[in-house]
Amino acid sequence: MAKNGTISSSVIKRLPRYYRFLGELMKNGTERISSRELSQLMKLTASQIRQDLNCFGGFGQQGYGYHVRQLHEEIGKILGVDKKYKTIVIGAGNLGRAIATHINFDTRGCELIGIFDRKEELKGLQVGKLTVTGTDELERFCRRHKPVVAVLCIPKSDTQEIADKLVSLGLRSFWNFSHYDLSIDHENIVVENVHLGDSLLTLTYGTKTVEEQ
Ligand code: NAI
Repeated sequence: MAKNGTISSSVIKRLPRYYRFLGELMKNGTERISSRELSQLMKLTASQIRQDLNCFGGFGQQGYGYHVRQLHEEIGKILGVDKKYKTIVIGAGNLGRAIATHINFDTRGCELIGIFDRKEELKGLQVGKLTVTGTDELERFCRRHKPVVAVLCIPKSDTQEIADKLVSLGLRSFWNFSHYDLSIDHENIVVENVHLGDSLLTLTYGTKTVEEQ
């Protein structure tokens, strides 16, 4: 199977969507699917699907299509869903609490082990199975538990400073919601900046385009 480095980033970006659709097909009891059927479902062309999945050695068989469970498993392995990367949330405000309680980290290769906030009044608050810890405890916690992924749900102004500190404490991956486009000048640090507003703007553009037709 190809190593991640040899798969283009645009294919990697499509993988979670394949994984989700295949997971739903599995739940509905579908055992196999042709690239044409999958393309209709996912609104991609069949050749795009064949091209994408060929990057991993082509799991499809002529005349049979794709074995749904097997393909789901293989894509899951490529994505790393079988990992258990220790993860912490920084910022236990509205967004941090929503993410900590509504995102299923376990099925996505991450294990949520802590949530931190600097506000004194939030310390001790129960968020799902976790209790909010003060940021004064962050250093000790990281040295002891060695988390590698941080979900940043803090204001823009604090993001660079806290990210640099987390890097010095050994964290390597940042799921950054802070509206600050984080770039870290260290090797082997992974950043995924998320802006829900950008997604909404794409929708606005689509709505405008349809209206103007
Ligand atoms: P909020 O004000 O409810 O919570 C922010 C929390 O971060 C507060 O509890 C605050 O005490 C804590 N905090 C601030 N600096 C900190 C630090 N250095 N260390 C630890 N904790 C710290 O705000 P909300 O609604 O939870 O949003 C959080 C951030 O996410 C905001 O900057 C907001 O603009 C952004 N946001 C981003 C979205 C996106 O799509 N990327 C969507 C919604 C919000």
